[in-house]
Amino acid sequence: MKSVKLNTGHSMPIIGLGTYLIKDKDTIMEVVRASLESGYRAFDTAELYENEHHLGEAFEKFLPQFKLKREDIFITSKLATNNQGAEKAPKAIQETLDNLRTPYLDLFLIHWPGVQDLNEDDPQNREIRTQSWKCMEQAHLNGKLRAIGVSNYTVKHLNEMLDPNSPYHCKVVPAVNQVEFHPYLYQKELLEYCNQKGIRLEAYSSLGSQKSQDLLKDEKVALIAKNHGKSVAQVLLRWAVQHEIIIIPKSSKADRVKDNIKIFDFELSSQDMETLDGLNKNLRYSWDPSKVF
Ligand SMILES: NC(=O)c1ccc[n+]([C@@H]2O[C@H](COP(=O)([O-])OP(=O)(O)OC[C@H]3O[C@@H](n4cnc5c(N)ncnc54)[C@H](OP(=O)(O)O)[C@@H]3O)[C@@H](O)[C@H]2O)c1
Repeated sequence: MKSVKLNTGHSMPIIGLGTYLIKDKDTIMEVVRASLESGYRAFDTAELYENEHHLGEAFEKFLPQFKLKREDIFITSKLATNNQGAEKAPKAIQETLDNLRTPYLDLFLIHWPGVQDLNEDDPQNREIRTQSWKCMEQAHLNGKLRAIGVSNYTVKHLNEMLDPNSPYHCKVVPAVNQVEFHPYLYQKELLEYCNQKGIRLEAYSSLGSQKSQDLLKDEKVALIAKNHGKSVAQVLLRWAVQHEIIIIPKSSKADRVKDNIKIFDFELSSQDMETLDGLNKNLRYSWDPSKVF
């Protein structure tokens, strides 16, 4: 399985299973089984998804069946907006570890730069998320979080952490920034910024999220898919991988989970890539962090 190197030195599989909106225990069990069987070794969850405990149970059940150990898989979770800050973050991290039945996480992200119950333009957002980051740095130092990162951060949010002259400067550079990223939202400037700073970009909603079928029905993508004998979903995922971006497609259906990983046996031409890059219309299906202070 293709993987990428994080700035911690650890490897992270370039494809993982997204699990947003899969809450039902039987479905979690089935998709974890299907994903391990078809070669997935990474899983993306969050406190907010309310499925960490089911995933913990699924790993305990299926890893031995596939002759795998904890260290053979890569688990990511995220700090919820209502658990930001010095007081709540350490407890939330421990709860996530307990839910997932693991002594460490491979990656833990601040889910959103804002804090629950604060307005987007409230300057306290940046003070409180800096407190969260410092707690995560501590948990990183003591080995509970092998890598730490952020999600939905813009260049502004990242700059404030990385600038040595900023009052919000942080010691550890985020390993990953997980953001919405697909051909209709080709965030080129953010990708280049992250590459330059050694931060891996991770795409979510690569297939256009559960809210829309537009990307999956796009005629230009469909034509490229037809030319390669692949599905539209596989082309959308392959496009991100060829940009060296980590992907976490979500499906609650075992057959789709298995199809979504069959993207390493073909290559998009530079012309295909240009066509897909050219579909950008700055369209977001998910939350927009650009106004969060
Ligand atoms: N950090 C954040 O703020 C954030 C936000 C959103 C998502 N995420 C993470 O990123 C993951 C992926 O994003 P996402 O859940 O928005 O959606 P996505 O991966 O774009 O998937 C969208 C929908 O496509 C369907 N699908 C999957 N494979 C398919 C295929 N081969 N053909 C046709 N349809 C297919 C799925 O429906 P079925 O289940 O019915 O197959 C799914 O609901 C999430 O699960 C989550 O782990 C993070």
